Amino acid sequence: MDSPYGGTAAPKGQVISPDTVRRVSNDAAVLIQDFRVRTDRQPAGVWAAPGRVNLIGEHTDYNDGYVMPFALAQRVLIAAAPRHDGAWSVTSLNNDSTETFETADLQPGMTGWQAYVAGVVWALQQAGHRVGGADLVLTSDVPEGAGLSSSAALECAVLTTLADLNDLDISGLDRAKLARRAENAFVGAPTGLMDQAAATLCTAGHALFFDCRTDDAEQVRFDTARAGLEILVLDTKTPHALVDSEYAARRASCEEAAQLLGVLALRDVTELDAALNQLPDPVIQRRVRHVVSENARVLEAVDVLRNGRIADLAPLLDASHSSMREDFEITVPPVDLAVEVARASGALGARMTGGGFGGCIIALVPAGEAERIGHEIAQSFATAEYGPPAHFIAVPSAGAQRLR
Ligand code: GLA
Repeated sequence: MDSPYGGTAAPKGQVISPDTVRRVSNDAAVLIQDFRVRTDRQPAGVWAAPGRVNLIGEHTDYNDGYVMPFALAQRVLIAAAPRHDGAWSVTSLNNDSTETFETADLQPGMTGWQAYVAGVVWALQQAGHRVGGADLVLTSDVPEGAGLSSSAALECAVLTTLADLNDLDISGLDRAKLARRAENAFVGAPTGLMDQAAATLCTAGHALFFDCRTDDAEQVRFDTARAGLEILVLDTKTPHALVDSEYAARRASCEEAAQLLGVLALRDVTELDAALNQLPDPVIQRRVRHVVSENARVLEAVDVLRNGRIADLAPLLDASHSSMREDFEITVPPVDLAVEVARASGALGARMTGGGFGGCIIALVPAGEAERIGHEIAQSFATAEYGPPAHFIAVPSAGAQRLR
């Protein structure tokens, strides 16, 4: 689900020391040079896929609901060339390591950052595609373990690279689904489709309104500059100790609730009060209330954006955060503090983004105020004796593509 580069996927939770991480560029020309140095060959091309923030619609994707992410300018870049011995050799410049594997090595459950790469080859092969060997050199500036979908960015970048190198005719949506299959069935993280759909289908200047039941995708204009606003992303850098087990537990509760209510998925709950009355357990009631109310908020947010009323997103962001904190119970104190201080310092609205238990918040802030608000949050973290957070302004960017 996160951190495929710094080695935290093998074993989960291991954090690579910052001085062992080579800081890498997100520039295609630099990567081409690196590819030549590493392989003594010319690359056949350079491909990219972005990280994402989710504007609104959290833990709704695996409930057949609605989401509205947008792609970031931060991305995974891959330079690649085919090779003829049927092997895949993958170098991650972020942690300066090279892994090589062949078809016989493609066993679900593989660990390490390379599992996200091998999983994509496996998913393509499982779907009947012929995938020739390749040399891949990759780099990423998507913050790791921050809930910004660095793993989906890697999967989708690999998928786009291999689809092109092998002349595979696969639609954007099917690419997203194959990348998700790699994550679910090969790496073993039971996620929904949102992150891979964002990494594949997003377009610059837009948020992606995606219906996770019908797969309908709408590009909704998201021009914050025109509204005099910006989206501040603040990474609380809180370790996601619980994310894997708690994510799976939330998903299981939602499935149990749907079964108790006799619906296919919580997307189908239209009468919230009536549904809550049918559920005996207050915890399950809260989980259902989050999902049902969050789906309604996504629909409202789409309406707000379609009408260019970006400032009106703010109360929806706030309500989403409260729902995640009180009903879905996936926030942690540093995340709640960041949201609270963002609002107190002038953000119009703020919420945690991503799977939860740490990671990032997003805040809708007046243009020019992001630095100051980020700084205020950092000060509050110092006072609370939390480690220093990091922040940046999000730019709605393009999905996976060939760059060269
Ligand atoms: C993670 C998962 C997504 C989605 C979000 C929560 O990012 O990968 O599929 O469930 O959490 O909205």
